[in-house]
Amino acid sequence: MKVTALANSNIALIKYWGRRDDQLVLPANSSISFTMDEQLSTKTTVEFANGLVSDDVCLDGRKATEKEYSRVVSFLGLVRAKTGIKTKAKVVSQNTFPKSAGLASSASGFAALAAASSKAAGLNLNEKELSMLARLGSGSASRSVFGGCVEWHAGKKKDGSDCYAEQISPPGKWRDLRNIIAISSMEEKHIGSSAAMAVTSKTSSFYSARLKSVGKRLAEMRNAVRKRDFETMVPIIMRESDSMHAAMLDSWPPVVYLNETSFRIMREVLAFNQSQGKYAAAYTFDAGPNAHVYTTAKYAEGIKRMLSELPGVMKIMECKIGEGIKFSEEHLF
Ligand code: DP6
Repeated sequence: MKVTALANSNIALIKYWGRRDDQLVLPANSSISFTMDEQLSTKTTVEFANGLVSDDVCLDGRKATEKEYSRVVSFLGLVRAKTGIKTKAKVVSQNTFPKSAGLASSASGFAALAAASSKAAGLNLNEKELSMLARLGSGSASRSVFGGCVEWHAGKKKDGSDCYAEQISPPGKWRDLRNIIAISSMEEKHIGSSAAMAVTSKTSSFYSARLKSVGKRLAEMRNAVRKRDFETMVPIIMRESDSMHAAMLDSWPPVVYLNETSFRIMREVLAFNQSQGKYAAAYTFDAGPNAHVYTTAKYAEGIKRMLSELPGVMKIMECKIGEGIKFSEEHLF
């Protein structure tokens, strides 16, 4: 059976950085994100087919690189182990955004792959189970199973059975929210997230201080999300991004993802809030220099204008809050 699934990327407000178990991809702390709209999305078709001698993986119209191939194949191995299927699979995947935009996301990629491959293998997983499976491909993918605002629970159990994502607020409640993305680099990251978070947790003394404070920020964020109180969320979002990047910088060797333009954007967003006399916009950065500025529709044009005038900003996108995983009958092969 051929199955096609679509998943959108997500951008965290409370970040996942560091794991309590590498094998099971159990994070050191819970995290909260918003799922983006279809502009940051992956569509994936999977078929387990008799006659294939090896898995066949095609991404964005080309053969997967060795690194991509082995990550996809080990994920398919997990699905095979769950079902007893021995057949090899054909996987074709397409991102809506160019990989070169510096926005390539393992979150939408592994959420779509988890949904398509599990269904193609005959598994009928519910969303919670799907988030647990997607997690094994990439931690942040567990959150992309759901739309709106999503919490990924770190859990406490060794076997990971309490580590899953769930929606805490549906997308319909956030029609007014925008993520203005400012792209300032299209280069590949100098170090991948998995390796970088391992360096941070092993070497940064600031990291343990961050883990102590993140619980309080999580509770405050959860509350503010439930009340749809964006003004309260704004400073928490920025401080959380700063905290993660500070721990990265405190790592040895240091992990530096932000560039000159990222720092300029941080200053300009703070100045923008000051000029409005309120917390109107919040910057946040993942494992890369591109800024995600959360704001409301009212301020979106002002933020876009401000960002477009900054030296180093190459491209601007405006995303809304999107839905969770969807299946489609329009297959990619
Ligand atoms: C900075 O989910 O890419 O974006 O589990 O190693 O695949 P792996 O890591 P990944 O890490 C994302 C880290 C982050 C923060 C976040 O999305 O919470």
